[in-house]
Amino acid sequence: MNLLEKIKAKAKEAKRRIVLPESTEERTLKAADILIKEEIADIILIGNKAEILEKAKELKSGNIEKAVIIDPKSHDKKDTYANLMVEIRKNKGMTKEKALKLIEDPLYLSVLMIKNGDADGEVAGAENATGNVLRPAFQYVKTMPGISVVSGAFIMMLNDKNFGDDGIMVFADCAVHPNPTAEELAEIAVATGHTTQAIVGLEPRIAMLSFSTKGSAKHKMVDKVANATKIAQEMAPDLAIDGEIQADAAIVEAIGRKKAPDSKIAGKANVLVFPTLETGNIAYKLVQRMAKAEAVGPILQGMAAPINDLSRGCSVEDIVNLTAITATQVKK
Ligand code: ACO
Repeated sequence: MNLLEKIKAKAKEAKRRIVLPESTEERTLKAADILIKEEIADIILIGNKAEILEKAKELKSGNIEKAVIIDPKSHDKKDTYANLMVEIRKNKGMTKEKALKLIEDPLYLSVLMIKNGDADGEVAGAENATGNVLRPAFQYVKTMPGISVVSGAFIMMLNDKNFGDDGIMVFADCAVHPNPTAEELAEIAVATGHTTQAIVGLEPRIAMLSFSTKGSAKHKMVDKVANATKIAQEMAPDLAIDGEIQADAAIVEAIGRKKAPDSKIAGKANVLVFPTLETGNIAYKLVQRMAKAEAVGPILQGMAAPINDLSRGCSVEDIVNLTAITATQVKK
């Protein structure tokens, strides 16, 4: 079984309720059909039932009939969710009137369903930009205890099996937080370590990347990564974390031995933590295109419940895979 097959098998066992709020979007409906047919998750769709079923019929996606379909205009928990919205954000100016309007937006309705225990996770982004998917999640689901920042990891499946663990590596943050502080970068490293254990099933060897290895260059950007390394090591003494380290020293054994001879992870890192979103996002896209690696994600980490954002260029298969991952992220 390859990694994605293993993740799907785990999701099937867990039987989680996942909301796909972009419920008339073609790829989403096709993915929902497969997810229901293969019993990877119980699917909740949001929209007008007749309209969704009509579209499903056009797409020959007969399994959609087995989805739970919630109409944002007429479902019976509107009042409960609106009250919850006011309770969570009254200090940010949320009123019942505003809440009742906002709750008709499927992206808000999804996160309120999760917050109220009526769903376990959400996958969206096939037709909405990242910010629109993440903002409701940040505002109402928020981060998990001990974590202040949400970040996005990619599982990179490389053809060259010499890297990582048999070609599997995890990169972060490639999707969310533009310019983390040292403390935030430390949180990102720890969260990525936990994602690697929980979802990929590997013991992480985490490299905190920089343009310097162990003081070879002096700059405040280098200091940030060195500090983040110390904080992360204190936060999670059970995880193998080292830095600051250059990318070549992190992943090439001979260079790691030369530049960081005392490091336990140099030359054999399987998790790369990038100093900024710019570097992480550029790096994963270059590796994906130039090395023809499969990039699975972004897997959002640090959120109190699993909510994942698709790229608008996603395929049906991407939606199926990310929904399976989301189901396996549910903690219960
Ligand atoms: N983690 C946790 N909470 C956060 C985070 C975060 N990383 N960022 C913002 N928040 C919270 C804020 O604290 C705030 O909460 P509050 O309203 O309770 O005070 C709320 O979210 C809204 O914060 P804003 O500062 O208004 O954030 P904004 O909505 O403007 O931006 C966003 C957040 C959309 C994630 C922004 O950081 C962003 O655009 N990031 C880049 C996303 C992106 O474009 N990625 C690349 C594409 S993805 C890809 O290629 C795979």
